[in-house]
Amino acid sequence: MNAEAPEAAPSGTGANADDPSGPIPSRLLPDTSEVSDQGHLRIGGCDLVDLASEFGTPLFVYDEAHLRARCREAVAAFEGGAAYAAKAFLCAAMARLAISEGMDIDVSSGGELETVLRAFNSDRVHEIAERVVLHGNNKSADELAMARDAGVGRMVVDSFEELDRLDDLHRVDGKVPRVLLRVTPGVRAETHEYISTGQADSKFGFGIGQGVAVAAVERAAAMSSVELVGIHCHIGSQVFRTESLARALDIVAEFAAPLFGDSGPAAGRLEELSMGGGLGVAYVESERAPTIAEWGDALSTSWAAFARRHGLEARLVAEPGRAIAAAAAVTLYTVGALKEVSGVRTYAAVDGGYGDNPRPMLYGSDYTAFMPARAGEPRPDRVRLVGKHCESGDVIVRSAPVPAGLAVGDLVATPVTGAYGYSMGAPYNRIGRPAVVFVADGEARLVVRRETVDDMLALDID
Ligand SMILES: Cc1ncc(COP(=O)(O)O)c(C=O)c1O
Repeated sequence: MNAEAPEAAPSGTGANADDPSGPIPSRLLPDTSEVSDQGHLRIGGCDLVDLASEFGTPLFVYDEAHLRARCREAVAAFEGGAAYAAKAFLCAAMARLAISEGMDIDVSSGGELETVLRAFNSDRVHEIAERVVLHGNNKSADELAMARDAGVGRMVVDSFEELDRLDDLHRVDGKVPRVLLRVTPGVRAETHEYISTGQADSKFGFGIGQGVAVAAVERAAAMSSVELVGIHCHIGSQVFRTESLARALDIVAEFAAPLFGDSGPAAGRLEELSMGGGLGVAYVESERAPTIAEWGDALSTSWAAFARRHGLEARLVAEPGRAIAAAAAVTLYTVGALKEVSGVRTYAAVDGGYGDNPRPMLYGSDYTAFMPARAGEPRPDRVRLVGKHCESGDVIVRSAPVPAGLAVGDLVATPVTGAYGYSMGAPYNRIGRPAVVFVADGEARLVVRRETVDDMLALDID
């Protein structure tokens, strides 16, 4: 079985305190995780082995208490407000959970917006819309119209074309949405290129370095079709250093002060400074990440000092996605085939893969693994955990630590799969996406059912 030597641990931010061959460390598991007397992992009082037999695999299991705790931490860390970045993971239950914990919600498309609004009774739609922030680097006129009709609280404008579209819509109905302008500070986050968004060479936002952002503020401030209320910036995702996030804040604050200060073109209009999301999370044994509270502290301290010096009063807000949802979930798979390539490695093929977690294929992201039925045991063996999609690159964990004797039919789980897994997944090969359950207080509730071939065939016309 163990033909593959354990690979060197990927680099993280801190020392590797956890032996990657030891039992799965609790810090990579949802908050309420515990190992039962039988050695099974329980989350929210539910045995993962039982959940797999009740709901089938692959299955996303979210710890509701963990999600709620992270939402509360974000609300406490950012007194000016915190919006849950729905792109990380969204369904009706998640939208309701985030709102009930006092978060606003950031959406990036008409589809996400509609999902959030439809999660609530129609009598609450206006109240909920008021708590939504609409993003998107190419919002269509239809998306903008829908958001304006719903009464979305804030739109984050990304381009001059979008300002043109808002002008056109205003001419028809006279509505004046509240907008922030998204700026790119010219900071490259030390993360994967695809999720680094703050550098000048980015498809997002108005560049500060090129003078474009100044022009955008001047134009928006002079428009009667929008109410300019702030500036937004998001430098990227999976950022481990709070210093990088605080540095971006300094650049944006320096940019905004003269424009929104007493004699600037947008004097007195800086109600809100949004620093986006981006806080990294630990996916594997070797990584350590700052807490949401530490991130909030770093940004708030920086902003409070700056605002005092410049006489600015804007609320500092943030939009965490990954830091709320990632570590709240594990994905359960069943091993269907084992292939040993003599002297090289063992492949363990499971019943999911790229379609429920495209991050390894997109970004080369690393994950770890454990066996829910043997959760407290050391994991001395290494397998390459692969999916069932018809791609060689459909690798879930390149070097997955597992207890000795992994066999066909066993359950294997990957932790920290709650963000950008289900939401980025796709039914490639017409393999439907997994079901999603929320667990709490010994109860499991299905919040997203398994995608079926009939769901896919429903799109075919003939
Ligand atoms: C504008 C914006 N806000 C917030 C987020 C959430 O980032 P994260 O999930 O890393 O916290 C993103 C992610 O891409 C984003 O683009």
